[in-house]
Amino acid sequence: MDRLRAAGCVFAEDEAELLLATARTPDELAAMTERRIAGLPLEHVLGWAEFDGLRIAVDPGVFVPRRRTEFLVGQAVGLGRRADRRPPRPAVVVDLCCGSGAVGAALATALGRVELYAADIEPAAVRCARRNITPLGGTVHEGDLFDPLPTGLRGRVDILVANVPYVPTEEVGLLPPEAREYEPLVALDGGTDGLDVLRRVTAVAARWLAPGGHLLVETSERQAPLAVAEFTRRGLLPRVAASDELYATVIIGSRPEGTDHTTASPSP
Ligand SMILES: C[S@@+](CC[C@H](N)C(=O)[O-])C[C@H]1O[C@@H](n2cnc3c(N)ncnc32)[C@H](O)[C@@H]1O
Repeated sequence: MDRLRAAGCVFAEDEAELLLATARTPDELAAMTERRIAGLPLEHVLGWAEFDGLRIAVDPGVFVPRRRTEFLVGQAVGLGRRADRRPPRPAVVVDLCCGSGAVGAALATALGRVELYAADIEPAAVRCARRNITPLGGTVHEGDLFDPLPTGLRGRVDILVANVPYVPTEEVGLLPPEAREYEPLVALDGGTDGLDVLRRVTAVAARWLAPGGHLLVETSERQAPLAVAEFTRRGLLPRVAASDELYATVIIGSRPEGTDHTTASPSP
């Protein structure tokens, strides 16, 4: 604990307990402590992160799920439970930009029976997500945004969650070293105003959503007005949900019932 504190770990006591509980041998404990002192994120040292009450496997080089994203999960669970599907059937859930698959795993756990798909462009994330998602009956696909998803999902998705990268390029350098040095740039950098990937998702989301289905995306509070405008432009009825406690902002866009977006081409 003293060594962790000297290395600048603010929660040295908690971290020491976690390392002690996870290491299987004294040698392993020593090696884990060294890695943490060298600056690796605690979750990469442990090999897991606590997220929404679950223990999520997180491999080196994979984005560490943030507590604030539990707010997005809570919003999606509320919508997933409320959905009035006729005839009754499991909700179709897609976790786009899934990273470790934490969001999809939390949704499947909270909602019970779901048809779950996840996707990410990073091979390391896809491998990690498979460890978290496959035991829950979901499938994980590798590729750019919607590209790797089964085409049969078009027009059928009830809950589409996309925790896209949304840090403006110029601000990536201001992130804590744990993020800058140990998480891939593709997981953080959202382009000039941070909304590049969000725009690509909203451009085609309505084609994948079922009528009455929802897209949920995390942004910063500052980005919310621009993000809302983007949702509106793409025919999604937007609203903003925010949590002061978790410092989280989520844009929720719903595909209106009775619209046919399955064959529409995206507007420029
Ligand atoms: C902010 S992280 C979120 C990860 C996870 N959803 C979570 O909340 O912990 C963003 C993820 O988006 C993925 N990503 C970035 N660009 C992508 C793209 N064009 N297609 C698919 N995934 C992408 C990154 O690899 C990264 O895993």
